[in-house]
Formats: sequence, structure tokens, C-alpha cells
Amino acid sequence: KKNIIVAIDGYSSCGKSTVAKALANQLHYVYVDSGAMYRAVTLYFLRNGIRLDDEQAVNEALKHIYIDFHKEQGSTRVLLNDEDVSEEIRQMPVSEQVSAVSALKAVRQAMVAQQQKMGERKNLVMDGRDIGTAVFPEAAVKIFMTADPKVRAERRYLELTNKGQNITLEEVFENIAHRDYQDTTRKESPLVRAEDAIILDNTEMNEAEQLNFVLAKVEKVD
Ligand code: C5P
Repeated sequence: KKNIIVAIDGYSSCGKSTVAKALANQLHYVYVDSGAMYRAVTLYFLRNGIRLDDEQAVNEALKHIYIDFHKEQGSTRVLLNDEDVSEEIRQMPVSEQVSAVSALKAVRQAMVAQQQKMGERKNLVMDGRDIGTAVFPEAAVKIFMTADPKVRAERRYLELTNKGQNITLEEVFENIAHRDYQDTTRKESPLVRAEDAIILDNTEMNEAEQLNFVLAKVEKVD
């Protein structure tokens, strides 16, 4: 069967991309990190001094933003107008602004259109905040991920400090809490569990257990 879409939504730093990547690898589906797209837009806005209340500047900027994913030795690189921005979009300046940028209607419209195109005639796993509700409401499998906020902050803190970022656990915790708040309370496609999404709370689950959980859901439809 073709064109199965797996939508994985949930709070910040729940490990959505880890599960989504593992699932896509296992099933040979395409994986798309929709959050990376909003992060790339945010980086472009920061670099070019685009003010979020300047509707015209935002619309004009969106015309000049082309985001692509490039597979390279097992890892996926994020390209912003052909420049590899994979590392820079994970840095604090972007993390602090991304929820404000992604609350803008024009930004969401542009990204959702690209995401829907990526799902045409393909088996695909996409993770984000509105994949099961707005991007692919007809997705065959919808997962809604959550975990204890303290556990999420600790995991993300370890990941970022291992990569050499100079941050504190408090900063990471605050950023996660702040993004969750903005993402769930915004007007345009807020983060909310789709009625038909299956909850996956991974507070006490390892990666293999999470993969098995989602694999079992996909096998039911595949
Ligand atoms: O997934 P990640 O945490 O990298 O996403 C960064 C931010 O991008 C989120 O906090 C959210 O504000 C925004 N986002 C979104 N819709 C998506 C994916 C991400 O609004 N589908």
C-alpha cells in the first residue's frame, strides 16, 4: 500500500524526532522534521531583521525562503536557501524566537503548503505540533507525545551540552515551558491532541519501547 502518513505531534523536547526517525528508518518511509522548517524561517528572520509585526516584510521574506532536507551519511541536513543551517537552528537565539514566528498565519500557511506537497504519493513520517490536526488531518496513524516536563528538560539539556552548547538546565527548562505555553495558546493551529491521536507518554520508556509502540500502530494499517 502506498501513501501512508504517520503524524507525530506533541510538546517540546518529548523525543518526537527520535521516534519519528527510527520509525521512518525501519519502514523506509521519508522523515520530515516540520519543526526544523519553522526554525529555518526563524533564523532567516533573525538574520535579516524581519519584524514580526511588519506584515509586508514577513510576506516578502517568505517569498525568498526555500527550505530543503538533504540526506547525508545517515543524518538529515537542513538547508536554508542551499546553506546548511542544521546546527544553527538548534541554538538558543532560534529556540527563543521560533514559537513567536510560527504563530504567524502567513508563516504557517507557507510551511503547511510545503509540507502537504512532501506528503504527496509518499509514505511519510512527519513530526511537529499540527501535523495530525492541520497538515494531514487524514493521516493513517496519529501519535500525540508527552512526557514529564522535568524529564524532557533533563534529556534535552544532556543532548545540547553533549553537542558543546553552553547552557544551564534552568534555561532549557524555561525554554521548553515557554514554547509549550506559546504553542498551546496561539490562535493559528495551536498544539492540541487530534481526537483520533493515540497518546504516547514516554516518561518511563526507552527508545526501543517507543519504536515498538508506534510500529504496532502502523502495522495495523499497513
Ligand atoms: O519540533 P521543534 O521543537 O524543533 O519545533 C520548534 C518550534 O516550531 C515549536 O516550538 C513550535 O513553535 C514550532 N512548530 C510549529 N508547528 C510544527 C512544528 C513546529 O508551530 N508543525
